[in-house]
Amino acid sequence: MSLRPRWLQGSRQGVYFNPGTSVHFHIITLFPEYFDSPLSCGLMGKALEKDVLEVSRINPREFTRDRHRTVDDRPYGGGPGMVMLLDPLVQALNAMPPGCRKVLLTPKGKPLDQSLAASLAKENDLALVCGRYEGIDARLEELFDLDLVSAGDFVLNGGEAAALCLMESVARFLPGFLGKQESAGEESFSSGLLEYPHYTRPEEYAGLKVPEVLLSGDHGRIAAWRWQKALENTFRQRPELLTTRPLTSNDLDFLHGLQKTRPARNLYLALVHHPVKNKMGQESTTSLTNLDIHDIGRVCATYGLGGYYLCTPLKDQQVLARRLLSHWREGPGARANPDRALALAGVNVVSSLQDAVENVESLAGRRPRIVATSASGAGDIDCGQVFERLEKEPVLMVLGTGYGLSDRVVQEADNLLTPLRLLGGYNHLSVRSAASTIVDRILGDFA
Ligand SMILES: C[S@@+](CC[C@H](N)C(=O)[O-])C[C@H]1O[C@@H](n2cnc3c(N)ncnc32)[C@H](O)[C@@H]1O
Repeated sequence: MSLRPRWLQGSRQGVYFNPGTSVHFHIITLFPEYFDSPLSCGLMGKALEKDVLEVSRINPREFTRDRHRTVDDRPYGGGPGMVMLLDPLVQALNAMPPGCRKVLLTPKGKPLDQSLAASLAKENDLALVCGRYEGIDARLEELFDLDLVSAGDFVLNGGEAAALCLMESVARFLPGFLGKQESAGEESFSSGLLEYPHYTRPEEYAGLKVPEVLLSGDHGRIAAWRWQKALENTFRQRPELLTTRPLTSNDLDFLHGLQKTRPARNLYLALVHHPVKNKMGQESTTSLTNLDIHDIGRVCATYGLGGYYLCTPLKDQQVLARRLLSHWREGPGARANPDRALALAGVNVVSSLQDAVENVESLAGRRPRIVATSASGAGDIDCGQVFERLEKEPVLMVLGTGYGLSDRVVQEADNLLTPLRLLGGYNHLSVRSAASTIVDRILGDFA
């Protein structure tokens, strides 16, 4: 068994713990003075003094040839603002040392993360091109092999603030930058998890005590506690990160035991058999489909939904559905296959969509938001937005059979979900396939 702390183990360990010895950052910027303060204080200032890293600032203005030292011009095609000229930037980049990796800071780039920072820390020379104004003449990207990097999905005044984020995150991987070499590996993201919480003196403040285990001096218990807190922080704040690293069965047991808020309980599905469209686009009624009852029921049970409604006004179809459900929930089917009884436990047979709405209201204590679905149309809510609604209110997702929900159901709904594969040509999923894709896009693995 490895004696390394667990957050230093894992498949991506090699990426994180094989940095180069030093990086020379070549910042290409119209505002070299922007970096005066950040590079003169704290760890960055010390690292520069100790030659742990080097920084050069290159102003593209130095490469201009005209009297006014022009670095920008108006955009072709019109529009507001100015665009940075190619030639000064081309010359600045041509002046970089051989083998220099060239980064363009831009909102359309790959989002900067710990893994990218670790990979950049292996370089000897990094050129950081900082745009200003409306941006840079697009042909720069054709002339050079550039790594496009973004600080996040927001727009800054210039690339300088993004370059600073990049430099600091890269520098933390360099030997001699942090107090001890392994610190960077223990931080958030390096292990694929967020970090555990830190505490310092006093032991008690405003009635809040430092967790007892941290005062115990028992390093094994402390390491185990920190690992679980890292798992818990990640689960609560950024659950999608949990899918990026392998979890042990102990980790999974621990995560299962955490107190969960369950947005999934607020999601309900209605499968509508009337009013739906037929082949000619006329309003009609469809028959139940055994597979839809079972498969969508299994989706609802797997993802922990609040309920699933089969909506049919036809009395004989209701009788048939109830017989079928009773066979699997209480009859011979339940004894032969208890899992299927669980899957079908949340299925309700109702006469209309209105009955389903009223049933959800009685369970959830408030009227649900009704979200219709369709393979066509633009939609006005996507799966991510539905997830956000689930934290505030119940949502009844309405699925149509036949040739889709009738227009009046769509018009009376609160929202229309953006279609799956909205740019595709062929778009004819079975309703049970659509149901599982939609539910998974809304809830993912951890909600
Ligand atoms: C005002 S911005 C230009 C924004 C551009 N018109 C757009 O809508 O994408 C000027 C410069 O700031 C930098 N910048 C702005 N936001 C950024 C971000 N999120 N990440 C990295 N660089 C950014 C880029 O270098 C960009 O060329």
